[in-house]
Amino acid sequence: MMRLDKFLSMYTGKSRRQLKALVKSAGVDVNGTIIRDASRHIDPTQDDISFLGQTFIYRYPLVIMMNKPAGVLSATKDDRRTTAIDLIGPEYPRFSLHIAGRLDIDAEGFLLLTNDGSIVHDVISPKKHIDKTYVATLDRKPADPHVLLEGITIRDGKNKPYQAKAKHIEWLRGRTYKLTIDEGKHHQVKRMFSHTDATVKRLKRIAIGGVMLDEELDPGECRMMERDEIKRVTG
Ligand code: URA
Repeated sequence: MMRLDKFLSMYTGKSRRQLKALVKSAGVDVNGTIIRDASRHIDPTQDDISFLGQTFIYRYPLVIMMNKPAGVLSATKDDRRTTAIDLIGPEYPRFSLHIAGRLDIDAEGFLLLTNDGSIVHDVISPKKHIDKTYVATLDRKPADPHVLLEGITIRDGKNKPYQAKAKHIEWLRGRTYKLTIDEGKHHQVKRMFSHTDATVKRLKRIAIGGVMLDEELDPGECRMMERDEIKRVTG
């Protein structure tokens, strides 16, 4: 069971005080009965809840696959820029989501969002070695991109030297390569290619763990992940 105001705040981002007044004036439809007391308890797994014309989907864990477009911030809140959360529909508990493995603002592709902190941990923990596969288009062809398989020293987000190693690298076409790493340091792919004197011009994450980004998702679209997919992204 969960308090109604807590439930509604996950979807609307509104405070308990705001919801108290709104629920009183507008009412919430819980299984066909109008409730005006925001402190009432509901069962989010069983009850059908509509508020201000919106019906909500509840899942725990909820794991969302998004095809993040370039230009969107991998964050839950920002005063100026569009964030990944802004792209998620009001039917999902958007304000309870965490991002498991950020993408740079100019990077695109598979972004995973979940309301379960243990899933975030599993996806990003260096101990779990979950694969992340990227397609990178460079400004030039590196002389020997395979040095990245041997391991090179780059700097991490705190400017500390860090040994980075690609698990797989493959030339796709022109100046475009596919690269798999099982780590996720700040700007890791860009830093790795800069070691080969190339600059990443376009970066797209196409897989996490054993799950490919769904080709049906246009940039900016998302969908819930299935149980077997969740197993594969957490290793
Ligand atoms: N590596 C990068 O350089 N940027 C990303 O967004 C992800 C991996």
